[in-house]
Amino acid sequence: MHAPDRPVEPAPADPVIVVHGGAWDIPQRWREEAAGVCRAAAALGRRLLVDGADAIDAVCAAIRHMEDAPVLDAGIGAAPDAFGDFSLDASLMRGSDRACGAVARLPPTRHPIDLARAVLEHSPHVMLAGPEALAWGAEHGVMPCPAADLALPPAYRDPPPYLDGGDTVGAVALDRRGALVAGTSTGGVPGRHPARVGDSPLIGCGTYCDPRGGAGSTGKGEAIIRMTLARAAVDAIGAGADPTAACKACVVDMLRLTGGRGGLIALDARGRVGLWHTTPAMAWAVADGTGVRGHWRVIGRGLDRGPS
Ligand code: GLY
Repeated sequence: MHAPDRPVEPAPADPVIVVHGGAWDIPQRWREEAAGVCRAAAALGRRLLVDGADAIDAVCAAIRHMEDAPVLDAGIGAAPDAFGDFSLDASLMRGSDRACGAVARLPPTRHPIDLARAVLEHSPHVMLAGPEALAWGAEHGVMPCPAADLALPPAYRDPPPYLDGGDTVGAVALDRRGALVAGTSTGGVPGRHPARVGDSPLIGCGTYCDPRGGAGSTGKGEAIIRMTLARAAVDAIGAGADPTAACKACVVDMLRLTGGRGGLIALDARGRVGLWHTTPAMAWAVADGTGVRGHWRVIGRGLDRGPS
C-alpha cells in the first residue's frame, strides 16, 4: 500500500543531501571538475539544512549551483538542440504532500529550477511548457535571459563537456523536520529534435518524491520515461529495498528491458542514500553528518552489461 494522499508529519532527522551532475561518459578532462561542482552543491545544501532550511530550499540551492556550472548540462552549459537553440526542462516534488512543479521546453533562463518551484508554489497546474511558461514565470520573478548567457565560456568549447557527458543535474534532500524533496534540471540531449521532451520535467520519470523516499534520474530520457524510473526507485524503497539496491535494480532493469543506460540517486525517509548508474560515469556527491563525499563514478560499480 502507498502512503495516504494527505500531508504526513515526518519524524525529525539528521539532514542529508545527495546530488548528481549527470550520467554518461564524462570526458576525462572534465571529470574532476564535474565531481567538484557536485561536492560544492551538496555542501551548500547541507549547510542550509543544518541552519534549519527546508529541503526545498536546499534542493533548489544545490541545483542552482549546478545550473551555474558550465561543466554540467543545465543552465549555463546546456546542450543545444538540432537547430542550435536552447530549451530547458526542470521539475521539483515535495514528498509530504506530493506537491509538484515542472517546466518543459523553456526558452533561455538562468535557473529553470526556480520556475519549477514557482509552479509548485503558485500555480494550480503541475507542468507549464514553452515560452508562455516563461512569460508566466516573469510574474513570479523568473526572468528570461539572452541565449548567449547560457553559451559555454571559450575554455569549455573544444570539445564541450556535454558532448559525451553531462545530461542533467539533480538533488534529493531530507531536512531536520524529516521532509523529503527531489528536483531535476537539464539542458537536454545535444542535437535533439527541437520539439522533443525528455524525462527530466516528467514527474515519476525524472523526479519523484513521496513520504517513503525521493529519487532523481539521469541518462537516456526515452528509456527513463518507459520505465517511470524515479517512481520505480521509490516504489522499490517502499517495498523494503535499501536505496542503493533499489537504484541498482531499477537502472539494471532499464538496461535489460529497453537497452537504455542511465543513473539514479535516491534518499529514503531514514536518510539512507542510494546511487547507481549503468553508464561509464556519473558525477555525484553526498553531504551528511559524516561530511561531504563525491566522485565522477560510483566506486566499486560494475557496468551491468547490456545491449547499449
Ligand atoms: N535525461 C535527460 C533527457 O533525456 O532529456
